[in-house]
Amino acid sequence: MSSEDYGDDNLFQSVPHHIGIIMDGNGRWAQARGLPRLAGHQAGVDNIKRILEESVRHGIKVLTIYAFSTENWHRPPDEVSGLMRLLGLTIQRQLKELDRNGVRILHSGRMDGINRHLQKQIRHAVEFTAQNDTIILNVAFNYGGRAEILDATRRIIEDGLDPAALTEERFSQYMYHDLPDPDLIIRTGGEWRLSNFLIWQAAYAEYYTTPTYWPDFDETELRKALEEFNLRERRFGRVLNP
Ligand code: IPE
Ligand code: IPE
Ligand code: MG
Repeated sequence: MSSEDYGDDNLFQSVPHHIGIIMDGNGRWAQARGLPRLAGHQAGVDNIKRILEESVRHGIKVLTIYAFSTENWHRPPDEVSGLMRLLGLTIQRQLKELDRNGVRILHSGRMDGINRHLQKQIRHAVEFTAQNDTIILNVAFNYGGRAEILDATRRIIEDGLDPAALTEERFSQYMYHDLPDPDLIIRTGGEWRLSNFLIWQAAYAEYYTTPTYWPDFDETELRKALEEFNLRERRFGRVLNP
């Protein structure tokens, strides 16, 4: 799964380098079918592969997917444990293929609270794919934007950084990963909010939201989001053509 295999579509003038996806609507997708919520989460996991492959075709280099938020611990215990189990199973089943396809896996989030075995699986997935460079799949799991900013601040204080030397660039280097900021944030499932996702990094991202539930968000839906992104005029506070 490299861009060469699929051929570059070159459909768009500008393609986001980094997309963040708030994969919402799994529960409602399942409810609409009379299925348990966890069946929706399974369908959501299955959908990642198709969007990942389509992203590679478009030349997107980083995909950050919101899989479990620090607030999601407040869900019923069986849903929480189901989501934990699903991550472990997915790593177990998909890691080899992801690696073969050149996917580099990163994890953004806190390890605290995640059981030791799953922590080991996450670390293994990251190490196993560390040399890959077709696309980065950054999995935001037990992730909160506020927690990330707090964790960064703690490490800055521990490092004894001179307050006068602290810049936005330096601060960014203390985030879970020093990736380029997302250009586009996609939210499925119809809500218009960030829900604590990449609140530092998305300061100048373009936002796109669709009522489509995540398991139904297919290649065509991604193209629609990319089309919309192409129509946006990114000014970063400047006046264009003064
Ligand atoms: C998003 O789907 C996935 C996670 C939060 C893990 P939801 O489970 O929030 O689905 P809805 O919003 O209830 O439909
Ligand atoms: C955001 O979805 C978190 C993930 C997609 C993992 P939620 O369903 O948890 O967000 P809220 O509760 O609607 O804000
Ligand atoms: Mg939701």
